[in-house]
Amino acid sequence: MSVEVPIKPILTLENASRHFSGVVALDSIDLAAFPGEVHCLLGDNGAGKSTLIKLLSGVHSLSSGSLTFEGQRHVLSSPREAQALGIATVHQDAAAIPLMSVSKNFFLGVEPTVGRGLLRRTDTKRANRVALEQIHAMGITRVTDPDQLVGTLSGGERQALAIARASYFGAKVLILDEPTSALGVKESSVVLRQIKASKRSGIAVIFITHNATHAIAVGDRFTVLIQGRVADAFRKGERTRNQILDLMAGGDLEAELFDRTAQE
Ligand SMILES: Nc1ncnc2c1ncn2[C@@H]1O[C@H](COP(=O)(O)OP(=O)(O)O)[C@@H](O)[C@H]1O
Ligand SMILES: [Mg+2]
Repeated sequence: MSVEVPIKPILTLENASRHFSGVVALDSIDLAAFPGEVHCLLGDNGAGKSTLIKLLSGVHSLSSGSLTFEGQRHVLSSPREAQALGIATVHQDAAAIPLMSVSKNFFLGVEPTVGRGLLRRTDTKRANRVALEQIHAMGITRVTDPDQLVGTLSGGERQALAIARASYFGAKVLILDEPTSALGVKESSVVLRQIKASKRSGIAVIFITHNATHAIAVGDRFTVLIQGRVADAFRKGERTRNQILDLMAGGDLEAELFDRTAQE
């Protein structure tokens, strides 16, 4: 008989709240991200998803509650601090600078170097090779020129570039804010595949979306936010697709749609 060893969460929020001058954006949130799992954060516009990832990525501090990373409590006072721990965040616009080359964007100031002292300079050849290798490994084979400008990539390719960079630089937690929301079906499936690949490499992925289908396709755990509170938290297989849709709509979606159609 095999004994299942429970894996420990790498990142947790306990009883976390965040207020903005009297407005409660998040109220008593509990959340845990596990290595090798995808945790989907679902919720309608204004539910508090972006505020939550800003707490995890050091952009905002907690008004109350605690954040634990690898078993230790942390107060993150900047995004740099979160990054140094291995918490990488890819924002919705993929934070790519349009007039920068694919290779430069991949390294963003941390290019490999050759030589020492005054002779030290960027190893452009190596930077270009590594950037292309990593991008290709992520399934983006259309990019063959490392000098191609990021502005000429599609939305999905930009997401892919940002995710490839995060994994290459050793992210332990990868937070993706609505990575598929602006993408077509084909591009979305590329990004969903990347999410699965990141998970398989042992990264804890936090996937923010309001697309239930995308969430169900890759998610191991789910947290649904409604007006700054956890409305439901469950594991894969514990809810049906319709139950998830209802939760996200904050009520009975089908009844609402039926009423609306009946009125037309
Ligand atoms: N910097 C801020 N100042 C004041 N209110 C904010 C700020 N950031 C977010 N909020 C409020 O917190 C709530 C949740 O917003 P947000 O986290 O952006 O939701 P979501 O990402 O789920 O759409 C909203 O009511 C929003 O107006
Ligand atoms: Mg948001």
